[in-house]
Amino acid sequence: MFWMGVDVGTGGTRALLVDADARVRAAFTSPHADMRMERPGWAEQDPADWWDAATAAVRGVLARAETTGESVAGVGLSGQMHGLVVLDDADRVIRPSLIWCDQRSQAQVDAVDAAVGRENVVAWTANPPLTGFTLPKLLWVRDHEPDRFRRVRRVLLPKDYVRFRLTGERASDVSDASGTGLFDVAGRTWSDRMLDALDLDVSLLPRVVESDAVTGQVTNPAAEATGLSPGTPVVGGAGDQAAGGIGNGIVDAGVASCTLGTSGVVFVHMDAPAYDPGGRVHTFCHAVPGAWHVMGVTQAAGLSLRWFRDTLVPGAAYADLMSEAERADPGSGGLYWLPYLMGERTPHLDASARGGWIGMSARHTRADMIRSVLEGVAYSQKDCLDVIEGMGVDVGAVRISGGGARSPFWRQVVTDVLGKPVAMLEGEEGAALGAALLALAGTGGAGTVSEVAGRAVREAAAHAPDETRHALYRRGHAAYGSLYPALREFYRSAAGGMG
Ligand code: XUL
Repeated sequence: MFWMGVDVGTGGTRALLVDADARVRAAFTSPHADMRMERPGWAEQDPADWWDAATAAVRGVLARAETTGESVAGVGLSGQMHGLVVLDDADRVIRPSLIWCDQRSQAQVDAVDAAVGRENVVAWTANPPLTGFTLPKLLWVRDHEPDRFRRVRRVLLPKDYVRFRLTGERASDVSDASGTGLFDVAGRTWSDRMLDALDLDVSLLPRVVESDAVTGQVTNPAAEATGLSPGTPVVGGAGDQAAGGIGNGIVDAGVASCTLGTSGVVFVHMDAPAYDPGGRVHTFCHAVPGAWHVMGVTQAAGLSLRWFRDTLVPGAAYADLMSEAERADPGSGGLYWLPYLMGERTPHLDASARGGWIGMSARHTRADMIRSVLEGVAYSQKDCLDVIEGMGVDVGAVRISGGGARSPFWRQVVTDVLGKPVAMLEGEEGAALGAALLALAGTGGAGTVSEVAGRAVREAAAHAPDETRHALYRRGHAAYGSLYPALREFYRSAAGGMG
């Protein structure tokens, strides 16, 4: 038998099959139409497009594995978090979804701050209100499209819309619900205090389950659309970061993941909820029942290197850039890269921050420039880790993944900057694998989520920090850390004037 994960991403929906030993057997991605960005900061997708891509991905992976729906014993869902799907009284989609990266709702964030008080929001939901979260997006619809808002009967998250089409059930899981801004993350339930303070009715929201709990079965029409068997159980699943945590085996205290994709995410499992009063990292429920996770985000990690290549050495191979960087000395001769090409989340929460080099002299080479980019991103990931450790969450070791982690040299730079052992994993599946493992744990009798994830994960290359370079990078990180505060006022005024 197989267990299926379906990850409703931003660029596409990926379906993946694991067997009873938690080994990946096949995967298939069906792309989405480009997100619509009608105005700067706006980002919308059509829920119907996710459903179409999900049906194509499920059919695609079954074909690739040369099997049929009868061999699938359970399905787990994962997806892009935070997106707002609104349904009317006949369960029709009222408007396109405002997705996670839509930034139009700053006025609504300010209004939540004013109405509820930022300290209360952080105390009740473990996070400050952010434009990325679902609540401010819903309030934007209320403020700007009152006719549409009056028709809203249900609010769903992206993967939960696919669940609704698959099973007819309106349900979510604790990890994804954590990113709405309306969830009592410590209590693992909707926050009555938030709902009351904002005069919102809990009946708008889906019921919430733990990630391995069965939420319903595939209906006859959904079976026809996807090729799955009617009656196949569908478990709660998880938001893409928590599902990725399961896929990377981050299911025990003490191990962090560092994912160097376009952005860089440091993700840590917690046995008890802890939050940063400054809201510089997100504290969400984990997909491990009864556990939590915290994550810090560098907005432009791999993006920094891609920008460097595309802008300054178009067409160069990343491997060549890495060999060149290796010729520069650790510390890049005092040259520092600030990776704030897309503003910054952790630790500055500042959309106006901008990237750049500081400390350039006539003797610096292109090798120093590349190495400084790799080091600057690593310093930013160290910032994430420091905020997390500052919350009393100990991290003994790190698992690294994502495109940037393919370079042994960058992995060693990250290891030396973080000062912790860093291991790379076999295979590169994240969220879709995590969703499949949740289905296996929930419907396969194969053990708990932690046991199943532990079995699936195999460490490949291991790196140990070099003590001399780590000592040098500690000084480098302190110097790097002094740059943003010195530039903050410049960013605020420059960004206002020049874009
Ligand atoms: C999590 C986040 C992204 C989205 C899209 O906070 O913003 O991971 O879920 O992938």
